[in-house]
Amino acid sequence: MNFKRNSGTLNETILVMDFGSQYSQLIARRVRENNVYCEIIAHDSSIDVIKKLEIKGIILSGGPASVYSNNAPIAPLWVYEIGVPILGICYGMQVMVHQLGGNVNPSSKKEFGHSELNISNYKHDLFNGLDLKIQAWMSHGDRITKLPEGFEKLAFTDNSPIAAIGDSINRIGLQFHPEVSHTPLGNKIISNFLYNICHCKGNWTPENFVLNSVDLIKKQIGNGNVICALSGGVDSLVTASLIHKAIGDQLTCIFVNNGLMRKEEPERILETFNKNMNINLIYKDASELFLEKLKSVIDPEEKRKVIGKEFIRVFELESSNLGEVDFLAQGTLYPDVIESKTGESEISAKIKTHHNVGGLPDNMKLDLVEPLRYLFKDEVRKVGLELGLPEEMVFRQPFPGPGLAIRTLGEVTKEKLDILRASDWIVMDEIKSNGLYRDLWQSFAVLTDTHTVGVSGDFRTYGYLIAIRAVTSKDAMTADWARLPYDVLSKISNRIANEVKDVNRIVYDITSKPPGTIEWE
Ligand code: XMP
Repeated sequence: MNFKRNSGTLNETILVMDFGSQYSQLIARRVRENNVYCEIIAHDSSIDVIKKLEIKGIILSGGPASVYSNNAPIAPLWVYEIGVPILGICYGMQVMVHQLGGNVNPSSKKEFGHSELNISNYKHDLFNGLDLKIQAWMSHGDRITKLPEGFEKLAFTDNSPIAAIGDSINRIGLQFHPEVSHTPLGNKIISNFLYNICHCKGNWTPENFVLNSVDLIKKQIGNGNVICALSGGVDSLVTASLIHKAIGDQLTCIFVNNGLMRKEEPERILETFNKNMNINLIYKDASELFLEKLKSVIDPEEKRKVIGKEFIRVFELESSNLGEVDFLAQGTLYPDVIESKTGESEISAKIKTHHNVGGLPDNMKLDLVEPLRYLFKDEVRKVGLELGLPEEMVFRQPFPGPGLAIRTLGEVTKEKLDILRASDWIVMDEIKSNGLYRDLWQSFAVLTDTHTVGVSGDFRTYGYLIAIRAVTSKDAMTADWARLPYDVLSKISNRIANEVKDVNRIVYDITSKPPGTIEWE
């Protein structure tokens, strides 16, 4: 049993076949936003990947290759043989044309950016509800010069005489990208493909996901016992809540307070759990232990190692009091699954290491329960709301496992953590009260190990320098420093200077990633 078939009995599925496009995940998200389940598969996948799935259609993604070059990736033949509608996007269209007997050649002119698409067959189900001319976003250097037999042209642009094609068995190709926001009506085209052409029912909803996952979790766990480490983040919270809904008291959560969390955070996490869920919860306040281990540690990677190791020790100790444990729950998400390219057979293998828990000892061999492994982050949040979790927890910004230790430059001490907590509280308070919290990927304070000279009343001061960091990002791989309004920055600065003892200077970090990272350490 695994969660590959998370849609269970509701498993109408669209496959996104990936030819190396930077937009493959975006296509999948667009499909899911239309309440249709979809999975991303490699372009060379065997037909085995679709076993037990009710495939309603296949989308061939774009990609950087040219179909006429050596070793250009092509689709396996089963894609054309299983008799479901196909939507080829950009390279996906070209590869379909190439494989079905048409020709693709280099264009004399590359087409990049906005184009006006003229729809020549406006009666086609794909273009239902659209005007004859729409804005479309292009990015290609090749073009179709001969259509395969049975295909007709559906649309054109100034530079692409053939910008959309289709045949009588609903094999469709688009030279433009309907998945990007620069094609304003692209979502309508995707929705038309899903509902008018593939005849999907649209049963991928948070409510159905919860119902179905509860069923699958019950089957997987049977009478076993599950442990789950809580971090306070949305992934572990939703994981625990979903599993609890399925198996109740067979789940025990362990929450280790490492003393490196933000002001009032451990209390809020405990309150959420006790008030909302009534879950078996072991709370271990190990703050002093962690601080002791962090004494004289300055190097950021060393801090991470010390914290990770100590966490495992405490986690293992606490779980050893629980008697027989069979499963470890973790909040792995779909992007991790796609990136790690882990085969399904390997997933259920006994584990020794775990990236969130940070490497469990060899003698703790547990099976994994990963109910979120086919969800994107925004879907996890929707499931969290469906489970009745508080918005404050569901929309919490990401927070690193090593916590404030990597935002306290130099040695971590209780005194420095308290200064950072007080400053960070003000940042969060102002960001939230100005309605900016959900627009930012992360926003926080950093306590530098620099002191600067200042003046307070008639006295000279020599206090800490606090840096404010606020970034926008989609996935933390890249990030842009947030253009916070001056008024908000000014309020944060005044409040920190007035309310936090020992801080006399505040700066705003205007570094994007790259070259910076989001965290300072
Ligand atoms: P950076 O600083 O590398 O961070 O741009 C990218 C994202 O990862 C978070 N982060 C961590 N999370 N353990 C974690 O659990 C860590 O050691 C760690 N370091 C960075 C960071 O907050 C951001 O969201």
